[in-house]
Formats: sequence, C-alpha cells, structure tokens
Amino acid sequence: MTRFLRAIGHPTSLTRLADYILSNFSEISHCPHGSLFLFEREHHHYRQMHTFGPIKMFTVPSVMAIDHPLVQALIVGQHIFDGLESTLTPQPELSHDIPDTLAKSHTLAVPLITHGTLIAFTVLHSPTAHGTLSPETMELLTAMAQGAANALDSLLIYEDLRQSQALMRRTDRLRSLEIIAGGFAHEIRNPLTSIKTFIQLAPERKDDSQFIGEFSRIVLEDVNRIERLIQEILDYARYMEPQLTDEDLNDIVTSCLYFIQVTADTRGIKIEKQLAPERPRGMLDRQQIKQVLLNLLLNALDAVGKGPGSLRVRTRQFQKPEGTLFMQIDIEDTGQGIAPENLEHIFDPFFTTKHTSTMNAGTGLGLTIAHQIIQEHHGDIHVASTVGQGTTFRITLPALQQ
Ligand SMILES: Nc1ncnc2c1ncn2[C@@H]1O[C@H](COP(=O)(O)OP(=O)(O)OP(=O)(O)O)[C@@H](O)[C@H]1O
Ligand SMILES: [Mg+2]
Repeated sequence: MTRFLRAIGHPTSLTRLADYILSNFSEISHCPHGSLFLFEREHHHYRQMHTFGPIKMFTVPSVMAIDHPLVQALIVGQHIFDGLESTLTPQPELSHDIPDTLAKSHTLAVPLITHGTLIAFTVLHSPTAHGTLSPETMELLTAMAQGAANALDSLLIYEDLRQSQALMRRTDRLRSLEIIAGGFAHEIRNPLTSIKTFIQLAPERKDDSQFIGEFSRIVLEDVNRIERLIQEILDYARYMEPQLTDEDLNDIVTSCLYFIQVTADTRGIKIEKQLAPERPRGMLDRQQIKQVLLNLLLNALDAVGKGPGSLRVRTRQFQKPEGTLFMQIDIEDTGQGIAPENLEHIFDPFFTTKHTSTMNAGTGLGLTIAHQIIQEHHGDIHVASTVGQGTTFRITLPALQQ
C-alpha cells in the first residue's frame, strides 16, 4: 500500500498513472484485464482511456454516458461493485445494458471518487469465475482507490493549469505581436518620409553637392535604422522554443561581461562582479540568456552614460521554503534611473527613451524580448529604480539540484 501510494504520488503522465493503477488493481483482485474510464466534462461521459492485460477477450463499451446503468450504480453506490453481474442483475432496469461478457465471469468495478464526484472508474475482469473478494482485499482495494483518485485528480488539475498557462503565454505573445505590427508601421514612417523627400528633391538638387552629401548620410542612417528594426522584429517573430541545456550561470555572465569590458573601460565605468560560489546551474538556452544579459548590460552602460559610474553584476543561488532551487542575477547600475511614469512601460514593445536618429538609437524591443525569453524559461524579471541613483534588474530562474 505504501509502495503504491508513493509511486502514484509523483506521476509523470496520465497514461503511466493509469497503467500503474490498473496493474496494481489487477494484481490485488486477481483479474488479469482492466480498463480505466475517465470523466470528460465537456461531453458528460466516461471514456475508456487506458486498458491493461490481453483485452481482446474482454469487451466493454469505450464510452459510457452518465446515465449508463453501471455509471449510475457507481455514482449512487460510491463503492466497489464486486461480482458486477450478481449486484446488478436483480435490478432489471440496470442490467439490460451491461455487456454479455461482464455477466459470465468475474467482473468488478472500482469507483475513483474525490469530493464526492466520480472522476473515473476501473472495470476489472477475469475470464474465469472466482469467488468474491475477501473483506480484507476489498478494504485494501478501497483504500488504494482513494489514493488513486487523489493522484488522478491532482494530475488532472495540473494538466488543466499547464494548458491554460500555455494558452495565456500564446495570447500574450499574439497581443505583443499586434502591438509590434502597429509599432513597426509607426517606427518606419519617419525614416521612410525622409528617404522619400530625398528622392523627390534629388533630381532638381543634383548639382548641390552639400545637399546631396548631407542627405545621403541621413538616408543611409534611416535605411540602417529600418534594417535594424526588421532584424529585431524577425528575431522576435521567429522566436523559437528555447533549446535547453545544462548551463553554468556564472560562465554565461562572465562571457557577457567580457563583451562590454572594453566599452566600459573607455567610458570610465567600473564593473564589479560577484559570482555565487555554488556555481548555480540551470536548464538554459545559452544564446537566449546571453541576449537577455547583454541587453541589460548595454542598457546599464547607456544609463550611466559617459561615467564615472559603476555596474555591479551579482549571481546567487537560493532555496524556496518548499525546497525548490532558484538562481538569481542582479544587474545594478549607478545610472540616471527610470522615471516612475516610465517604469511600467519599459517592457512594452517599442518603448524607448533613446529616440535620436543616430546609430545608437534604440528600437525599444530589447526588454520586450528579454521578458519573453525569461518567461519561456519559467523565470521572472523585475526592476527597481530611483531617478538620479540607479537601476537594478533582477532575473530569477529555476536552478538544477547539484
Ligand atoms: N538600466 C536602465 N537605466 C535607465 N533606463 C533604462 C534601463 N534599462 C532600460 N531603461 C529604459 O527602458 C527603455 C527600454 O529599454 P529596451 O532595452 O527595451 O530598449 P532600448 O534600450 O531603448 O532599445 P534596444 O531595443 O536597442 O534595446 C530604455 O529606452 C530606457 O529608457
Ligand atoms: Mg536596450
């Protein structure tokens, strides 16, 4: 019993759980065949979702409506029906729909009930008639059925939750793609207008070398800007499921810092690095996490500006009270900070305060993409900022047990 309860406590899939329940019920009841029927809320019926044993010799309908006599008997009785034929045959109105094969041999039905609701049941069958089960076996089977019902219920709730989370993520993404499409149109309108003006004016001003020189430079910048926008949108749109591999977080952070060290040095910005001695590891998409960290680091450099200033990067590992392991990365800068009214918009697509027509102008997609990637890694990204003092971005990700 303990072994059974322990094994069904952490099921990996519905099929595995059903198989485990049926194999154990079969063993206890000496019935080599078994089927598990699961309630389908949207159809108001029970569908056979798993079978155990050589089923060819044993036929039951694969779908049983809620008013099926067997289902009704289980809902009303809320107990195991052993020797189904003898229990049900005295009531003619219940017996007409019980398959023939059920009536000729030993068959029992075990209800799986949580909170008074029949969420599933198993039908166990033996081709040779053997006497009814002993009271001890019945008791054991009843206790196991309760454990099985609880495990099945938790798994179904978990599946529901997982599906709605996936749906929410998809909706989130669609919504941001919608905003992106609108934002993209808005963003490329200005550079397009300037290119168009240039082309319109060029024929009559072709001998004005100063005009041609100046405008060529502007047009090139505008074209570059459109190109960059397209690239970022493509990166976001062709966003793929992360390719997760076991990665050392400190390693990724160090390689990102290496990229920005030169820029920081030339601007007189000090970089401080404090890495967790436990060397936290996690299932991460290395490229994507690097993309996130680089964007945060570049934002921090932008915020500090010409310096002096500093940037502190910290990693740490911690355990939540329930035992799950997490890792955290803090990127703290002594830059200009973020105005409170902007704080709630910084993750929005195209939100940027770097709106100048230079090569460094931001597209405002950096944090949107960062947020998306962290969400897909089942993590969190938070920001705290004080104008004039600086900003801290904190990323939390699930970590691997060492
Ligand atoms: N560390 C920071 N300090 C101050 N402001 C910041 C910081 N990080 C982000 N911001 C603000 O959030 C805005 C959005 O950042 P985000 O990275 O999404 O876009 P961006 O840096 O403007 O452009 P890009 O798409 O090129 O990264 C920035 O324009 C800036 O105003
Ligand atoms: Mg950025």
